[in-house]
Amino acid sequence: MHDTRLLPSVLLAGCGKMGTAMLEGWLSQGLRPSVILDRHDQTLPHPHRHIRQTEELPADFIPDVIVMAVKPQTSDSLLHQLTRHFAGVPVLSLMAGRTLESLSQHSFAHTGHPPAIIRAMPNTPCALGVGMTGLYAGPHVTEQQKHDCEKLAGAVGKTIWVEQESQMDIVTAVSGSGPAYVFLLAELLEKAGIDQGLPPHTARELARQTIYGAGCLLSHSTLDAAELRTRVTSPGGTTAAALNVFMAPDAWPDTVTKAIQAAVSRSEKLAS
Ligand SMILES: NC(=O)c1ccc[n+]([C@@H]2O[C@H](COP(=O)([O-])OP(=O)(O)OC[C@H]3O[C@@H](n4cnc5c(N)ncnc54)[C@H](OP(=O)(O)O)[C@@H]3O)[C@@H](O)[C@H]2O)c1
Repeated sequence: MHDTRLLPSVLLAGCGKMGTAMLEGWLSQGLRPSVILDRHDQTLPHPHRHIRQTEELPADFIPDVIVMAVKPQTSDSLLHQLTRHFAGVPVLSLMAGRTLESLSQHSFAHTGHPPAIIRAMPNTPCALGVGMTGLYAGPHVTEQQKHDCEKLAGAVGKTIWVEQESQMDIVTAVSGSGPAYVFLLAELLEKAGIDQGLPPHTARELARQTIYGAGCLLSHSTLDAAELRTRVTSPGGTTAAALNVFMAPDAWPDTVTKAIQAAVSRSEKLAS
């Protein structure tokens, strides 16, 4: 009998940036005995095991979920081997732009089982347990398999399911790539502070802590972001002066819309 307090066991294929971020969260919350497949050295607490190639898969091991966290372009033969070895085990794919159709065609036709695939798009704050993961379940996924994958993704932050696979391109554009946009804002705020005459370390501290603090406020508040903004904007004050520039029609409203459209198009193209 499984210990239901523990997270489902995984065969984690790929323990690089994203795999490590997820694994650290899982280990901190209690993970059923799992196997990590990666060609690089890994230090794992007992009873978890590290292997470098599929030939080393332990004979006594069947995971609840196969988690694919390798680069999409190098995944086909590995996924093929894993789905053959663990026929019927669901696959949680973190691989950006790999559609259900392409994963099924390349890697499930030989198994004799319908492809139980869940796609996930996490982001890098998962490394600190404050990630955001969008999830999409294919048609052959059971409620138990959905629950297992939600528990795994939920161990490193928040989760949200989307109804249509095409919406994963939007998830990718908004939250998958989103941390980079916030880092850009931090860079630009810091630079503007320096340009206006602050010492660099002062500008850096002000920019970073402001973004962190505003993020915390957003996360703790039930108010819309627009309402939070209005509440800190006195008519005719300094914030209003800056927002008038940011919110001009051809400024942020237009730029953010175009940027997200560009990311969605790129994600669609990578998937095709
Ligand atoms: N990083 C992000 O912000 C992010 C966000 C959302 C989704 N993702 C998705 O997460 C996946 C992983 O991205 P990542 O940035 O974590 O990549 P990564 O750092 O390159 O990690 C992949 C790891 O898997 C190893 N590996 C690949 N194929 C292997 C094989 N056949 N046998 C053994 N080890 C193998 C790699 O070794 P080598 O380096 O030697 O090949 C590397 O250590 C991608 O599909 C990406 O789309 C990433």
